[in-house]
Amino acid sequence: MRRGPGTLYRKALTLRYLLTRDRGEVVAFLCQRPAELPRRLRLLTRLVAVTNAVRGYHTLGEMLTVAAAILDVGRCRPPVAVECGVGYGASTAKLSLAVAAAGGHLHAFDSFRGIPPNAEEHRHLDGRVTAFRPRAFRGRLRRVERLLAQWGAPQAVTLHKGWFEDTLATQAPPRVDVAVLDVDLVASTRTCLVQLLPRLAPDGVLFTQDGHLQGVVELLGSLTFWQSEVGIAPPAIPGLGRRKLLAIRPMRPNPGRGT
Ligand SMILES: C[S@@+](CC[C@H](N)C(=O)[O-])C[C@H]1O[C@@H](n2cnc3c(N)ncnc32)[C@H](O)[C@@H]1O
Repeated sequence: MRRGPGTLYRKALTLRYLLTRDRGEVVAFLCQRPAELPRRLRLLTRLVAVTNAVRGYHTLGEMLTVAAAILDVGRCRPPVAVECGVGYGASTAKLSLAVAAAGGHLHAFDSFRGIPPNAEEHRHLDGRVTAFRPRAFRGRLRRVERLLAQWGAPQAVTLHKGWFEDTLATQAPPRVDVAVLDVDLVASTRTCLVQLLPRLAPDGVLFTQDGHLQGVVELLGSLTFWQSEVGIAPPAIPGLGRRKLLAIRPMRPNPGRGT
């Protein structure tokens, strides 16, 4: 039986996950704002179509959580979103649809050459050992552009090609409302956080989908990293060390404590 993207098997699997693994996020996404139910149902349908058609490295539940944050910002202003880690483009297509629905724009960054050379060894939170081989997840820029044209909202996306270490400092927008990292390496996570956290709007949120990696958890739990490299007080990160998708929000100044 054929099992890849576009097959009946794939559609059945997506349906099963919708009703089981991703059910909590699906219900939250649809019920959060009852007045937006028709719009959110339409968006969910399109995200499911992308899941069925393209190989991705995220759950639909994760994308719905991020999409809800994008739609929420869209209630006040056109959201500016940043994605680091495009892979073959499935997550980018989904985020582009969410951003387009909210009238905003997505800046998506990737080498389009896969994972950079590295000597990092990783352990999942459950103890499994893994390594991210150079060139893994190599999605070619042209193919991602075609995929966005077919499944996403290409007019709402700018693709930035290059290593994060070279592109983010000069090409990331000055204000970021929602950022999403799916970059696997600790070194890449470090670069993204240092570049993006200071740009995050006061009501913004940065998600990382790499919370299942022990090295990323250690980085996020390091006081020295936050204070010396990012230059902010360590934020509270709910679920750190337990959840894969983590939401990082900047600490808000306490209005009652002005000088
Ligand atoms: C797991 S894949 C992303 C998968 C995608 N978000 C999805 O859900 O389908 C990780 C991506 O991060 C990119 N990446 C990791 N470190 C990078 C770096 N330092 N500079 C540029 N791209 C990087 C790789 O090229 C790869 O495409």
